[in-house]
Amino acid sequence: MRISSIFSLFLVSALFVSCSGSSDTLVYKDANAPIEKRIDDLMSRMTLEEKIYQASQQLLGENDNDNNFESMNTVDLDPRAGSVIYSGDDPVHRNAFQKKAVEETRLGIPVIFGHDIIHGFRTIYPIPLAMGCTWNPDLLTQCTGVAAQESRQSGIDWTFAPMIDVARDPRWGRISEGYGEDPYTASVFAVAGVKGFQGDDLTSDHNIASCLKHYVGYGASEAGRDYVYSEISKQTLWDTYLPPYEAAVKAGAQTLMSAFNDISGVPASANHYTMTDILRDKWNFDGFVVSDWGAIEQLINQGYASDISDAASKAISAGVDMDMTDGIYIRTMQKLIVDGKLSEKVLDEAVRRILRVKFRLGLFEKPYVKETPDSTRLLLPTSLAIAENAAEESMVLLKNDDNILPLNANVKNIALIGPMVKDQEDMLGNWNGYGHASDVTTIYDAFVKEFPSAKISYAAGCSHDGEDRSGFAEALRVAKSADVVFVCLGEKNLWSGENGSRATILLPQVQRDLLTAISKCGKPVILTLNNGRPLELTAMEPEATAILEMWQPGVTGGTAAAAIVSGRVNPSGKLCATFPYSATQIPIYYNRRNPARTPTQGYYQDMTVEPLYPFGYGLSYTTFNYSELKISTDKVAQNGTMTASIDVTNTGKVAGKETVHWFISDPACSVVTRPMKELRYFEKAELQPGETRTFTFNIDVARDFSYINDEGNRFVEPGDIYIEVNGQREKVVVE
Ligand code: BGC
Repeated sequence: MRISSIFSLFLVSALFVSCSGSSDTLVYKDANAPIEKRIDDLMSRMTLEEKIYQASQQLLGENDNDNNFESMNTVDLDPRAGSVIYSGDDPVHRNAFQKKAVEETRLGIPVIFGHDIIHGFRTIYPIPLAMGCTWNPDLLTQCTGVAAQESRQSGIDWTFAPMIDVARDPRWGRISEGYGEDPYTASVFAVAGVKGFQGDDLTSDHNIASCLKHYVGYGASEAGRDYVYSEISKQTLWDTYLPPYEAAVKAGAQTLMSAFNDISGVPASANHYTMTDILRDKWNFDGFVVSDWGAIEQLINQGYASDISDAASKAISAGVDMDMTDGIYIRTMQKLIVDGKLSEKVLDEAVRRILRVKFRLGLFEKPYVKETPDSTRLLLPTSLAIAENAAEESMVLLKNDDNILPLNANVKNIALIGPMVKDQEDMLGNWNGYGHASDVTTIYDAFVKEFPSAKISYAAGCSHDGEDRSGFAEALRVAKSADVVFVCLGEKNLWSGENGSRATILLPQVQRDLLTAISKCGKPVILTLNNGRPLELTAMEPEATAILEMWQPGVTGGTAAAAIVSGRVNPSGKLCATFPYSATQIPIYYNRRNPARTPTQGYYQDMTVEPLYPFGYGLSYTTFNYSELKISTDKVAQNGTMTASIDVTNTGKVAGKETVHWFISDPACSVVTRPMKELRYFEKAELQPGETRTFTFNIDVARDFSYINDEGNRFVEPGDIYIEVNGQREKVVVE
């Protein structure tokens, strides 16, 4: 060791002892002391500079987000940083950096390692939009549980997920990252996601802290473009965008991320109303808020801050506790506080929140992770089985004329045509963590395995886009020699996700032309789709006998699709986002409000106003018969309870899973008009052939028949409410 290093070590130790006394008096290091006492103690020892570092997040490792161009601070990282975005999957590297924080800084505060684990760490499961179509929140909990276990054991304590932005514009690439267009659905999946990530013991090496993002209203981005303005009335904020956040905060989510969008003139990352008045004061959230990447500095671009000091001051005062990667707190905050322009108390509160989450995660007691081989923690057979289950339940059968699916067991020649047949990378979807394309079972390999006695022939036909149609002839030749032809089309995975907005939601012309060409070859054509958004399929729909929406299904996607095609699995996915008839109908979503003139006016002169495939749509290989809707009473008190129930019978020949969606509608509300119908409950269950099951909506009037006003206060209004299920309605009078 060099003399200077020995000297600095001595100095650090001397300082440490003089500031903190003997080790047995260090309350913050005492695992048995209450967390708030530990925070008080640690805060009392921290310098202003140390606090500012605690409120800052830096980047460690090679960043894999293509959209973030800032310089990468991979060298000379200050281990006093509160957090790093850890772009690595090796516990050894995490531990090496953590060692610096724990052993080489004055107070030894552990770093919290964050990363985007959106739909899997290594075991990549379907994208969130697909998970919404499972209508099986328990399955999401299992998936996020696997993601948490793989992450924590690989060195990540904190994921920037779930994304729970309600999205109603399929042009917006980030629609792929959320759970669709409905606030209730997004709320249920938000809670389910948090439950799986966090478990019930945050200190366990199977759990990680979650981060609800992007708070809030990001899904309302104008014209479906990313990073832009969003016009959101307070009523819509409360009705549509806040509910998933409220539900997940109440479920114990530890952190939130402030969004990039400007909410009607006050950017989300400087919005005191959303981050303090609502989140802290109304919902009592005591975790912390991290900004989105560079979002604080971007307040200048948005015209809300004049310079970086102004931006930092506005962000932290509004409630952004931690600054993601732009170093703006480090660059400005000391001076702001010393000059009296920002109260140190504001920073103290932010740091307290950050430390609270670190204590809850047990990082002070267990700063390091076990350095185990990949094979003991990644892609475990049980994890793959969960991902496969999720892929199966997320796929939506959009069309099945002549019951062409499942395929006849005697089929001898199957042709697989299209750019997705052997594609692995795009099956993973966007934000694929540490997924490896080579882990993905392709459609081709899965079909070969699923149909061992059939001949499987293949031709790509074309690429995902471009003008090259030279492969069409070979594709036609292959198609003509088969009994049945699958045309496997889709989007590249970077066509959705962040900065993945598209003005058109059609597949590229070359892929559409391939389908047209194949559809004329006289064979039954089945279209499979891999995409990260609802598509405009109107012109393609007549060209296929069946259509299977596979989404971006992750590592086991090919296997799941083949299982559906063979009938080993009965499809049960239903759409959680509307597929428009035409993109010109956007915004189009099921829970719109009644127009002033009905039923013959207020429509387009030149096109239907109906979508191609509505919210909740999806076919099965069996049939379900719904009996008469029954309600336990037709009058109920404002604080009362009641039930609505319906018997559903599987009238087909195979077992199948059915999701029953319960909606309400309110013909007249004097505070705020209500959507034509709003989902309030759903339940999915498997029914054997011939089996009848009673599905019940247990109604708590204060919860299920109430609305929220533009100040965030819930109310129940006496009067008529309709309960709706599968097209049947019953009136209830709330007294
Ligand atoms: C995205 C976030 C993401 C963050 C960190 C941002 O650009 O908007 O969703 O969590 O980067 O990678």
